[in-house]
Amino acid sequence: MCGIYGYIGKEKALFHVFDGLKRLEYRGYDSSGIAYVDKNGKIKIIKSIGEVENLKNKINFCEKSNLAIGHTRWATHGKPDIKNCHPHFSEHFALVHNGIIENYKDLKSQLNYKFYSETDTEVIAKLLEENYKKLINNSNKEISILNIIKNSLDKLKGSFAVALIYKNNPQNIYVFKKNSPLVIAKNNQESFISSDINAINNCFEYYSLSDMDIAEIGENYIKIYDENLNLINKKKIKKKALNYLTSKKYSHNMLKEINEIPIALEHIYKEFQTKNFFNISKKIKEYKNITIVGCGTAYHAGLYGKYILEKYLNKKIYSELSSEFKYKNIIINKNDLVIGISQSGETADTISALERAKSKGASVLVITNTPNSTMTRLADYLIICNTGPEFGVAATKSYVSQIYTLYGLACLSINKKINNSVINSSKKLLKEIDKFEFCKFYNKEKFFFIGRLFDSVTAFEGALKLKEISYVHSEGYCAGELKHGTLSLIDEKSLVIAIITQDSIKEKTINAIHEVKARGAEVLVITQFKDFKQLDNIIELPLIEEDILSVLSIIPLQLFAFNFSLMKGLNPDKPRNLAKSVTVE
Ligand code: M6R
Repeated sequence: MCGIYGYIGKEKALFHVFDGLKRLEYRGYDSSGIAYVDKNGKIKIIKSIGEVENLKNKINFCEKSNLAIGHTRWATHGKPDIKNCHPHFSEHFALVHNGIIENYKDLKSQLNYKFYSETDTEVIAKLLEENYKKLINNSNKEISILNIIKNSLDKLKGSFAVALIYKNNPQNIYVFKKNSPLVIAKNNQESFISSDINAINNCFEYYSLSDMDIAEIGENYIKIYDENLNLINKKKIKKKALNYLTSKKYSHNMLKEINEIPIALEHIYKEFQTKNFFNISKKIKEYKNITIVGCGTAYHAGLYGKYILEKYLNKKIYSELSSEFKYKNIIINKNDLVIGISQSGETADTISALERAKSKGASVLVITNTPNSTMTRLADYLIICNTGPEFGVAATKSYVSQIYTLYGLACLSINKKINNSVINSSKKLLKEIDKFEFCKFYNKEKFFFIGRLFDSVTAFEGALKLKEISYVHSEGYCAGELKHGTLSLIDEKSLVIAIITQDSIKEKTINAIHEVKARGAEVLVITQFKDFKQLDNIIELPLIEEDILSVLSIIPLQLFAFNFSLMKGLNPDKPRNLAKSVTVE
């Protein structure tokens, strides 16, 4: 989490960095700040609480500065207030940091400094200061900033991307990283740094730092050193263009992104026709075991993947939360495939899970929406969903795309024709739901989403969407589990949303509906079956192949959450405490 952006070049550093932070705001929006070098070569710091927009009032955009680093924060250590907000500083350094310094407490106790914040980041500033002093005391020669950084870097544990300005040499930005992405880019007479390559526009050279690299950046040059301070010749990377699917205006990113589902599906359907996709679909059958990993919504997509692949390939498929997979005793080897699913391609837990799988010899297939992300570099096989960027914190079109991708893989692997009527059906459904009056449930206090098999996945995902952006308590359950405990919570204040798309187990979920109705709950059914006409609340799904209905059944639930959030006066795009890309473990 957290976004880092930096600029060195012409006079408009403050403008560039503010602009870059706006693009990175999806990574955190608790607070933000900029450190810049003024016309006298002095380092100045500006900070603000809340959204990046709040920083605007504190910036004098007419002030000339050719160098600045900025940060938009998602708080990990210390609440979002001015003292904890980045940039952090010591006498000679101002810096911004993305990630977590795991040994910050140990370092803090070893360093003889007064700390003004509760952050782990301030420790880096003080550690640099300490190494500066040590070097100055032990040498009468000019001291090298690279040595100061290296000595400090060697002591840090955890994940970090750091950009800093050094008081004694304010013509450069210095950066270093471990387990957290950082990209440097260059143009004529100007250079940029960012924690997300997609936040940098129109440069002709892009470099991705490797772990423990240190870089010195000037307006005309980029020098990258390895951990032994040898100058290295880093290969340029290619920035793939991101596809902004529609330019149509919507009140919120989330609404725009839900409405982009049909075009997103079209894009994926095109991907199904590629040789890469075909080859991967054939290859997956050769692996002995397949495990799918992901977090949050991507984990739910993985659960769908487990059901569909098990059904079509007729073999056991495992689905795991990345955050568990990376610590448990995994029995995995070179005969196995691990599929990592991630919208951002930057989720720290999934990156670690994939690294762990690779270290055991397994092959890795990455399914992501973000072409230049860290996960793409870990992949033995890669599928880019190409659904266009997703900025709403709640994953919507990306989830649907992941499901469709997994369905496509499962179909092609057994030479089954891929259903594409889902594309038009999604358009039709979006039009239909527009008329649905979600407001009639706004007086409910408890929300339970139920379903079986594929529909249980939709139930989990629907509940996550609602709690994530509306802050109401909601739970997703396999319908058969209600009676094993949760039924005691059901009363007149409850809304039970039942997803019923699987004919073979339809009757079973109907039983669950009777049980909750008998306890006073109101029920909303999402289904393509006509058997529910007698119920008050139905959202009817288009009639298409059952195996792919999960692509459609989630759409009403995404819109339900969106409307509920608005009704509560919240901003569904920026739910509290969350960020779009979770780059800390
Ligand atoms: O970028 P990723 O798909 O790896 O992100 C994983 C989760 O953090 C993400 O899906 C999260 O659960 C969503 N905000 C839920 O809407």
